[in-house]
Amino acid sequence: MSGARPRVLITRRWPEAAERRMMDRFDVTLNEGDHPLDEAALIDAMRTFDAVCPTVSDRVGAAVIEAAGRRAAILGNFGVGYDHIDIAACREFGVAVTNTPGVLTDATADLTLTLMLMAARRGGEGERLVRAGGWTGWGPTQLLGRSLAGRTLGLVGFGRIARAVAQRAHHGFGMRILYFARREVDGDDVAALGAEWVPDLHTLLGRSDIVSLHVPGGVETRHLINAAAFEAMKSEALLINTARGDVLDHAALVGALKAGRIAGAGLDVYPHEPDVPAGLVELENVVLLPHLGSATVDTRVAMGLKVLDNLDAWFAGKGPPDRVV
Ligand code: DGY
Repeated sequence: MSGARPRVLITRRWPEAAERRMMDRFDVTLNEGDHPLDEAALIDAMRTFDAVCPTVSDRVGAAVIEAAGRRAAILGNFGVGYDHIDIAACREFGVAVTNTPGVLTDATADLTLTLMLMAARRGGEGERLVRAGGWTGWGPTQLLGRSLAGRTLGLVGFGRIARAVAQRAHHGFGMRILYFARREVDGDDVAALGAEWVPDLHTLLGRSDIVSLHVPGGVETRHLINAAAFEAMKSEALLINTARGDVLDHAALVGALKAGRIAGAGLDVYPHEPDVPAGLVELENVVLLPHLGSATVDTRVAMGLKVLDNLDAWFAGKGPPDRVV
């Protein structure tokens, strides 16, 4: 780089503390309107800036990466998941990508527990009842849900966030833990959970009272949970998704919820956000949140600072610590 400060685009507004730190280091342009950028705007950004910092709400497809006359050689993604970026195209065209692992683990695990509790204790239904003025007072059989203690939690994927969920569920709520992953995971923290590896997905689904999804999005996991998966689940089971919307076949989910094939669901992510798949909002037995997994002030500031560390290393000619490609 020449002596000039690198030009960096932040595609959405971050908490002010993180934006200020970025401005101390780089020549930063903010998206004042805070609207997701369309493809033309992203292509323009690739031609204009030394680094672009997208979020999950930006679709960074091959056309953006290939942008003729491209200048940006690094995407400092504000988030841990990067299925909204065409990684194969980045590899082909030599665009580096970094992400923000670790700093959003606790917040996302907390939100997973929030959804588990809301779905198990019918929190959404209760809230709607009170707001609609329909609550007539305490009743011995009103809105009865299920306790978590003693139930089995089946984790699909067993990375950082799944393990943080397991710790909360086991040590905090007395749940038994099963996990589905490519291989068995060692370690004292896993041993302390008494977590059991179940190498077959449908076996895990059949044994779990709550199933929680923690695999990355993308072609390999698309519709991993489909009609056959719902057939394998217990009829009183709950399904929780704080991972990526594509992992779930939502038409199959709506069918399963309507037919009583499973008891309920809690969702934070959807395939084409902000659209909510057809049929869900009409159902009582599903809790719907607007992609809040990492949405705490501390977490979002920490994510911004992770982007900063990665860009700092890149522009200093060192390897960014969280380089994906
Ligand atoms: C992530 O970090 O992947 C979250 O889903 C928000 O971007």
